[in-house]
Amino acid sequence: MNTTAFKSILSVLLAEGKGVLAMDESTPTCNKRFAQYGIAQNEETRRSYRDLILTTPGLNEFISGVILCDETIRQFATNGQTFISLINGLGIIPGIKVDMGAKDIVGHPGEKITEGLDGLQGRLYDYAQLGARFAKWRAVITIGEGIPTRGCIQVNAHTLARYASLCQQVGLIPIVEPEVLMDGEHSLDRCFEVTQEVLHTVFNQLYEQKVAFEYMILKANMVLPGINCLQQESVNEVAEATISCFLRTVPAAVPGIAFLSGGQPGDLAAARLSAMNMKYKFKMPWVLTFSFSRAIQQPALALWKGYPENILEAQKALYHRSRCCSAARLGEYSASLEHDYTFPLIFQS
Ligand code: G3H
Repeated sequence: MNTTAFKSILSVLLAEGKGVLAMDESTPTCNKRFAQYGIAQNEETRRSYRDLILTTPGLNEFISGVILCDETIRQFATNGQTFISLINGLGIIPGIKVDMGAKDIVGHPGEKITEGLDGLQGRLYDYAQLGARFAKWRAVITIGEGIPTRGCIQVNAHTLARYASLCQQVGLIPIVEPEVLMDGEHSLDRCFEVTQEVLHTVFNQLYEQKVAFEYMILKANMVLPGINCLQQESVNEVAEATISCFLRTVPAAVPGIAFLSGGQPGDLAAARLSAMNMKYKFKMPWVLTFSFSRAIQQPALALWKGYPENILEAQKALYHRSRCCSAARLGEYSASLEHDYTFPLIFQS
């Protein structure tokens, strides 16, 4: 294991004031989001959209890493460079989503297992050759009537651990993502209970598979009430529940935890992350940052709508949301930042 290389990747990914931009939506997910805005769904529109994101002026002030999908890592920017060389030129670290999506588990109605272990070692070598320096695998855990079951949690935790150990073997930092979904009517307490069990099981399996905690990142959900729960706790209550859950379950050797946004509005995701970083900064053994997709990208996509003449406005929205997330990473986000529409001179065309 090349620990020096791992440390240097982690020091960039977890740098102060920066976080990871997840732009690894699978083709069906990307197409579904495009369809909402009447954007044509094909390889070229997906490429153009990823080009818009990666050529946003000043993106690297706030973004330390980007997660790509299999299609994007092989594509070229409009200026003729590969996306990988464009990303490296910005001082941003490229990563790759390597799972093959969540499928129904036979005998477990309403529960899913993420597939993609078959042939994974070879694919990881190929991605490392293409320039990826870290990888991501997402498992999904649904809260509902009688679920999650122990069987679902265990099989997903075991799969995450096997993925993570293969990543470290080929020199990629694994991002380990067991996402407890916020869909449903469950309470914050129920989310706490499930997240705690999931994280205990995942770290137990990571230990069993000899994954070095020092050279991984946990990508986690915040501890939240379900989206349809009538009682929605305050920003501070969510921050407190999330940190106390992590303090019980995430080993201090793990260098960083990066949140997914999971469908939270961008301003709320930033406010909650900021509250955690502000109030618990000296209690936490790990860096707490973001690895958002929707909470950074959504306004930009809504402005772009597939038209070249909207690119600049969309990039401003992307810059703005990235700046808000960066402030949250530092514990310095406030609602007033949402109204700060000052942009660097590089935006003047
Ligand atoms: O794996 C999940 C994504 O990387 C994060 O997406 O921030 O929209 O939940 P999200």
